[in-house]
Amino acid sequence: MEEIISPHNIDEQQTIQLNYIDIFEIKKRLKGSFIGKNLYYEQKVDSTNTLARELAVKGVKNGSVVISDFQEKGRGRNGKFWTSPCACNIYMSIILRPKFTPENAQGMTILTAVSAADAIAETSSLTPQIKWPNDILIDSKKVSGILTEMGTQNMTIEYIIVGIGMNVNILEKDLDDGIKNIATSLLIESKKANAQAGIIDRNLLIAAILNKFDKYYEMFLSTGLPTVLEHYQKYFGMMGKTIAINVKDKKVEGQVVGIDSKGALLLKTGENELERIVSGEIYF
Ligand code: BTN
Repeated sequence: MEEIISPHNIDEQQTIQLNYIDIFEIKKRLKGSFIGKNLYYEQKVDSTNTLARELAVKGVKNGSVVISDFQEKGRGRNGKFWTSPCACNIYMSIILRPKFTPENAQGMTILTAVSAADAIAETSSLTPQIKWPNDILIDSKKVSGILTEMGTQNMTIEYIIVGIGMNVNILEKDLDDGIKNIATSLLIESKKANAQAGIIDRNLLIAAILNKFDKYYEMFLSTGLPTVLEHYQKYFGMMGKTIAINVKDKKVEGQVVGIDSKGALLLKTGENELERIVSGEIYF
């Protein structure tokens, strides 16, 4: 077996026990019609999104899922690095081959955020919130991010890769210094409520995310994004807040007044002015 470098300095006193992901434990819990019927697991990858794209180009089935315990070159949004230490978090990418047109791809990010938030709420006593469009926060700190990538030809979608990164069992001391004040993990937050909280079973959590994804994807295909957005609203913690957002190179400030039926953020920027934001990086 290949040597895996653990982020945790496990000393004799430390009780935390890290286990690798077990795809059989995941598979037996999957209830959906197609998501995860094909599961690819690698202990170590560059990036699950990169591997998923390679598999997509080779023609793997719609709904195939790539999971790893460790990413050497995990990718975040806007060209950022996604820190991906071993055997403690979730790094997973879903391959989709939809028949819809590229402008619907934004909906995948929205429905993935609801799936992740639902799965956290269902498997823990934590209260997730969604920071538009797709960051999952617990107590105002980021616990999960989503990176959606698409391959098209002649304005037709060849594949969509939805990558989900979730900080699950990483300890506070192992978070990178640069993100300690803005990031957290499910375990760190669980321990705030209960110091005895034990490590979280990632197999259960992955199965829960995939089952939710299956449900919301079907909903999206049958009734469209507005129905999924009704569920998104449950976790949307930004209503009424004044925010600043970087849209390309422009900084837009305003009060959040809602999300429209296409998933765009609606900002009140003046007495009678409303801006519709399709993408951007929010600063509170
Ligand atoms: C973000 O910047 O918020 C998005 C982070 C997405 C990280 C996940 S981890 C699994 C998948 N593989 C990657 O390289 N990135 C995504």
